[in-house]
Amino acid sequence: MNTHALPNARRQAITFTSGDGCYLFDDAGKRYLDLVSGLGVNALGHNHPRVTKAIQEQAGRLLHTSALYGNEYQEAVAQKLCELSGLDKALFVNSGTEATEAALKLVRWYGGPRLRVIALQSSFHGRTRGGLSVTGQASLRDPLGPYSLPVTFVPANDEAALREAFGTDVAAFLFEPIQGEGGVRPLNDSYLQLAQELCRKYNALLVSDECQTGLGRTGKVFGYEWAAVQPDIVTVAKPIAGGLPLGAVMFSAKVAEKFPLSGHGSTFAGGPLVCRVALEFLDEMQTLLPRINEVGSALAEMLSEFGEVRGRGLMRAVPLGERPGDPIVATAREAGLLINCTQTTVLRFLPPYILTREQVAEAGAILRRAIS
Ligand SMILES: Cc1ncc(COP(=O)(O)O)c(C=O)c1O
Repeated sequence: MNTHALPNARRQAITFTSGDGCYLFDDAGKRYLDLVSGLGVNALGHNHPRVTKAIQEQAGRLLHTSALYGNEYQEAVAQKLCELSGLDKALFVNSGTEATEAALKLVRWYGGPRLRVIALQSSFHGRTRGGLSVTGQASLRDPLGPYSLPVTFVPANDEAALREAFGTDVAAFLFEPIQGEGGVRPLNDSYLQLAQELCRKYNALLVSDECQTGLGRTGKVFGYEWAAVQPDIVTVAKPIAGGLPLGAVMFSAKVAEKFPLSGHGSTFAGGPLVCRVALEFLDEMQTLLPRINEVGSALAEMLSEFGEVRGRGLMRAVPLGERPGDPIVATAREAGLLINCTQTTVLRFLPPYILTREQVAEAGAILRRAIS
């Protein structure tokens, strides 16, 4: 298919040319129900009227000015993100891995001589070298080492191991409330509460990577809210600009105090186009929260027919035991349903927030055939 564009993922032989709501259409005009949403990005579905209108209007006004100047929308997005997260400052980036980079810099500035970060086995925080340095998957991390910061990887939900890992040299504990790429594995509330307690005790920062769980995906604005903890740093990306590249890191005043001007920066980040769309997304996302919970439960119920269901809201997975997921993904795709497989044996579902109960039933009928 492609001779020059490098397929930097296991790419499926299909080309989509348009989308509408929860459906995508390929170059032969065939329709697919999309329960992947561009890996959690297209949370409002495809061609959402508010997103399309904002892009069209803004494209005719102003696209980019650089970090040297403000724009009409950036402060409003930052304010909203701070209100939602209970934090004080927001810094814009362009992707999830850059959000991790920015968070690691904040940790470094805050920690001073304390360098060590505690992260989780099976975690995923991005593919730049900073992101990989805290990613607890040897196959991704090891080929590109060594890394400069000391990182201790502990098994998720093991409270004794967490207590043992903490010490006076720890600058931060970094987690995903539900490990996404690692197989949709939620952290226990009590585990996150202990992590918060230990961070407070050792003056370390509690850092929640919400790139996949954040901004509505789990049925609350942020995944950490389920455990009633308050992180010092929160990262977001994927859905925030309706399909355009934008990420952000939010942090508390005590972290901001130690962060110098130009402590991190980006030519593109937080421009007028992406910020204008982000305002539309954030507004829609809040009104969709009840629906995410309701349709998320319907999705979980439908999936329970196929075994254990992990996750929350509209972030769900069905582990297949030893059975590889790719053939099921391929059969479902042939039948007009897009799903994803992570860790080779875990079917993952990240549908748009506008998914309906009828579409859950439509997916169920195809999955029944694909899995049997
Ligand atoms: C939790 C988490 N953090 C970071 C990233 C990296 O995001 P990006 O691919 O936008 O760099 C991802 C991507 O899947 C993610 O799930």
